[in-house]
Amino acid sequence: MNNSVALVTGGLGGIGSEISRKLSENGYTVVATTFNKDIEKADEWIAEQKTAGFEFIVEEADVTNFEACGKMVEHVEKTVGPIEVLVNCAGITRDSFLKNMDESNWDAVLSTNLDGVFNMTKSVLDFMLTRESGRIINISSVNGQRGQFGQTNYSAAKAGMHGFTMALSQEVARKGITVNSVSPGYIATNMVMAIDEEIRDNLISQIPMQRMGKPAEIANTVGFLASGDASYITGANIPVNGGLFTSF
Ligand code: CAA
Repeated sequence: MNNSVALVTGGLGGIGSEISRKLSENGYTVVATTFNKDIEKADEWIAEQKTAGFEFIVEEADVTNFEACGKMVEHVEKTVGPIEVLVNCAGITRDSFLKNMDESNWDAVLSTNLDGVFNMTKSVLDFMLTRESGRIINISSVNGQRGQFGQTNYSAAKAGMHGFTMALSQEVARKGITVNSVSPGYIATNMVMAIDEEIRDNLISQIPMQRMGKPAEIANTVGFLASGDASYITGANIPVNGGLFTSF
């Protein structure tokens, strides 16, 4: 048991919920954040988690808004406690061929998936630097590593997250802060289930393990990176993709 806070953006989502649960099991006080449009769903989610034996704090923050992120982080530091772990998990898709992609769908994905990582990390970093302690874990994607047909926006943002991870890890390594990314493959969440069934089946057939991943399989990896067992890992990317993309 520890008294530190773990803040999970997109913490009410398919992967985010499971990450919140894992960090709670590992003894953190978990603050799950949600985009303001989803705040009305928060009570329902909190009740659902309570039935399963979990207590969470939910905060509203639009990760695309730098000022809002800063205010929310200050509020959590003051009213809940020191943020030891930041998990940047908020993300969206707006899939289409580039030739059909509106500028708004490029902007939405880049500002949520990549600017959001800057906005949240920058807001938390000064607190971590002062304490000389912290774990930053960015949820990227296999499609940021290999590119995916129909996802120029998403692949660019997710690849950018890892560039951010590698660069920041070097800046803060001497200050007791580790920065890593996790790259999920196709995980059984609403985001993946929204893909047309025929296309999805075709994608699954290309996965060596011949199945989608489970949110818990991502959460377990995040739990490990947040733990003392991962103390010498920084600037790394851990793929969790059933063998869909292999590299070293
Ligand atoms: N490689 C090569 N060609 C492909 C292809 C691929 N991966 N996918 C589709 N095509 C071809 C099709 O065969 C088709 O060719 P023909 O016209 O010759 O028949 C052509 O491209 C058009 O394909 P669609 O009919 O699918 O076109 P569409 O306009 O209806 O849809 C799309 C385009 C929205 C991009 C759709 O293909 C799609 O949803 N693809 C899946 C994208 C994807 O994987 N998204 C992941 C979301 S989940 C996520 O992102 C989480 C994570 O981190 C993994």
